[in-house]
Amino acid sequence: MQQFGIIGLSVMGKNLALNVHNHGFSVSGFSIDKPEVDAFAKYEDEKLKPTYSWEEFVNSLEKPRKILIQIAAGKPVDQTLQTLLPLLDKGDILIDGGNSNFHDTNRRYHEMEAHGIHFIGMGVSGGEEGALNGPALMPGGDEEAYKKVAPILEAIAAKAPDGRPCVSYIGPEGSGHYVKMIHNGIEYGIMQEFSEVYDVLRKIAGKTNDDMSAIFADWNQGLVHAYLSEITAEVLKQKDKLTPDNVIDHILNEASYKGTGNWMLEDAIHLGTPISVIAEAVLARFMSKATTREGKEISWKGEVPSDLIANLEKTLQLGQAVAYAQGFQQLSMAADAYKWDLRYPAIAQNWEAGCIIRSSMLKDIENAYADGKKLDNLFQDKYFNDLMKENLPALQKVIELTTKAGIPTPTLSAALNYLESIFNPSLPANLVQGQRDYFGAHTYLRNDREGVYHTEWYEEK
Ligand code: 6PG
Repeated sequence: MQQFGIIGLSVMGKNLALNVHNHGFSVSGFSIDKPEVDAFAKYEDEKLKPTYSWEEFVNSLEKPRKILIQIAAGKPVDQTLQTLLPLLDKGDILIDGGNSNFHDTNRRYHEMEAHGIHFIGMGVSGGEEGALNGPALMPGGDEEAYKKVAPILEAIAAKAPDGRPCVSYIGPEGSGHYVKMIHNGIEYGIMQEFSEVYDVLRKIAGKTNDDMSAIFADWNQGLVHAYLSEITAEVLKQKDKLTPDNVIDHILNEASYKGTGNWMLEDAIHLGTPISVIAEAVLARFMSKATTREGKEISWKGEVPSDLIANLEKTLQLGQAVAYAQGFQQLSMAADAYKWDLRYPAIAQNWEAGCIIRSSMLKDIENAYADGKKLDNLFQDKYFNDLMKENLPALQKVIELTTKAGIPTPTLSAALNYLESIFNPSLPANLVQGQRDYFGAHTYLRNDREGVYHTEWYEEK
């Protein structure tokens, strides 16, 4: 009898199965796509079993069965659940490791619960390489069921620099997929911040791709120690196979998306969370497809400030902090709204290795939320407050320069506006309230006494 089963044997499923096997657990694999099973069968031994039917797969597993479903999100997951249900026993555990929408996971969690089946919605980050060698895992659902699969998940997960596995129980219902959605929104935000900094480096500082590659590699040893710095350096220096140039100069500048970052924005609108950097990053992908492409290239004739590179490094460090801060702000608003008990230090720790947004800053976030500390905003923590004070002048200078040069910086400007707003006691929303009350008698609260007020504006004119 095999200890673990995986349905879906395309690259992610196959690599996760091999990862489970490499850690000494026995695993069965099944796919409705026979060639995938044939490819998987090449690794067959007594602890790795290819199976060719639903029945053979389910019957090969020890009870309670532990089954990871690693297939395309959406309808295929529901179809798989419907096919599996009659073959399962009460107490079996199903894990959906796809990029499912948390609303679907909430629904499936309760549907499966009604049949006595434990359903775990699990975010998986790290792509193909991570799946094989150590992904970041974000499992949500029934905690008792999680404990039964924890030994396997802890074995296969990435290990943080201090050796702890990047997996821990996130919370009930669809909270695991919610956290993965937040991860992806942060991913969109930080990636867009990188591309804006790249734009300044090439258009204002006049750096070549190879220069920029060296700069990002340097920052990866400096203030922005992050996987995205590492891969940005790699992407920029990659030679093209079809021309003598670096490939970056021939990649069409239209950003695609599968939508998980967009989902974060949808729920932010529902919750009223001010995740401006992530919103601008989503919109920047839309703009990259919607721009008319008419107009001239920017050519900066002005002075290049001597501290520009240093300021860009600080800008990126602070911008990254804002993207994380907005992600955690949405998590805490979601926890309140959906009545989930989320463990913020564990979520930060989950992201310290294996995933796309891993960076050394996550350890500082873990520390900020340690010992049950409650923060309305990450920048209330001393470390991040000091970082903000230290780097804000650099961000302001960069935005001043890009404004003069006519270079759009939607996420970096959003980061600046966010920081200028979060501790601001006199945002001008009083005028909006006055206008609302004027044209629609929408009423307003006062800053000097309790109660709800309406002014008879016309009479007072
Ligand atoms: C991960 C990634 C992964 C993938 C996104 C890409 O953590 O491994 O987030 O899930 O990169 O789905 O999303 P877009 O296609 O929307 O950029």
